[in-house]
Amino acid sequence: MGSLGFTVTSSKSCRSWFTIVGSAFLLLLFSSTTTTTCTAHKLKPSSFYDKTCPQALVTIRKSIRKAVSREHRMAASLIRLHFHDCFVQGCDASILLKNSSTIRTEEDALQNRNSIRGFEVIDEAKSLLEKKCAGVVSCADILAVAARDASVAVGGPSWKVKLGRRDSTTANIAEAQSDLPLTNLSVSGLISNFAKKGLNKRDMVALSGSHTIGLARCATFRNRIYNDSNIDGDFARLRQSGCPSSGGNNNLADLDLVTPNNFDNNYFKNLIKKKGLLASDQVLFSGVKTDRIVIEYTKNTWKFRNDFASAMVKMGNIEPLVGSAGQIRKICSAVN
Ligand code: HEM
Ligand SMILES: *[C@@H]1O[C@H](CO)[C@@H](O)[C@H](O)[C@H]1NC(C)=O
Ligand SMILES: *[C@@H]1O[C@H](CO)[C@@H](O)[C@H](O)[C@H]1NC(C)=O
Ligand SMILES: *[C@@H]1O[C@H](CO)[C@@H](O)[C@H](O)[C@H]1NC(C)=O
Repeated sequence: MGSLGFTVTSSKSCRSWFTIVGSAFLLLLFSSTTTTTCTAHKLKPSSFYDKTCPQALVTIRKSIRKAVSREHRMAASLIRLHFHDCFVQGCDASILLKNSSTIRTEEDALQNRNSIRGFEVIDEAKSLLEKKCAGVVSCADILAVAARDASVAVGGPSWKVKLGRRDSTTANIAEAQSDLPLTNLSVSGLISNFAKKGLNKRDMVALSGSHTIGLARCATFRNRIYNDSNIDGDFARLRQSGCPSSGGNNNLADLDLVTPNNFDNNYFKNLIKKKGLLASDQVLFSGVKTDRIVIEYTKNTWKFRNDFASAMVKMGNIEPLVGSAGQIRKICSAVN
């Protein structure tokens, strides 16, 4: 992309490279002499708060450890919360905003309603940080660090989190509905859904591996366990017993039936046995181009963990607000 010989700026927030690629053709046609400077991807190293709030990272880590020891599932919920933040307007904590005169909360999007959780854990970490160093640590950074600490708390991989994200003053429920993936997407649908956010097919498969922990509601897998042919019969019957063909929408089941509490590569082993819970899980191993990545991860946990960690870093870097864009919220649920 650098070889195209130009960069692009936006005063509001800088769009990421993948947006630029899409615009490249038009730009070349209409303004081939335009040369401006892109301020995107200017997240800072994990030492970002060392001077302004030296206890930031340890404070978040303690909060997350406590929350996960209180409720193991919280690790899964916090990883998902960061994902659902980053896929809508970038990693800007827009998902944390509640309804107000200017905000229509993203919580009400189909993909979030009755399932997105972990808000109180982020709020608690934020209030501790406001006591130590008011107005310094963004909610978006707390989400990113919390996801990493949650992974570590359940035996998952660790990674260095870049920092310096700022918080949005807007939310976008329409983008949440359109851009957060649904379980009925095909493999190519999933690939393009992630490509839109600058993530490739390997990132998508690795990140789906976070379904090695956590729970899903009956409503999200009913069709799969009653109507799908690409499913192990015993597994379908087992899941049907907790998820009636009508009603019980909020009944929960483990996404990984074998080791639901551990962050491991069992999710991929399940797929090979046709025991993926969501349709979007099983399509990753269904005679398609992602099959070989799934097989690779079943054989090589180390590779999965490494790819997962780097994909989480990439995901955490989606369209951040940096510099003077956005704000540092005082409380995560409302704009200042
Ligand atoms: C590939 C496309 C994906 C689809 C279609 C998808 C869909 C879903 C659905 C339907 C649920 C259950 C929600 C409910 O009960 O209503 C779920 C749970 C979960 N998802 Fe995904 N997901 C995808 C990718 C991801 C990614 C990329 C991550 C993280 C990086 C992730 C992390 C999780 C976690 C941890 C849970 C369990 C949450 C909890 O127990 O609170 N998912 N996902
Ligand atoms: C947010 O506001 C909308 C529109 O007024 C309303 O339909 C929705 O139920 C509210 N959501 C929550 C979680 O309060
Ligand atoms: C997928 O599910 C959504 C939400 O239930 C629905 O609106 C959409 O039409 C479905 N898409 C396909 C291809 O079935
Ligand atoms: C199974 O598929 C049929 C035909 O598409 C549909 O009418 C039925 O509601 C589905 N059943 C469940 C439990 O999803």
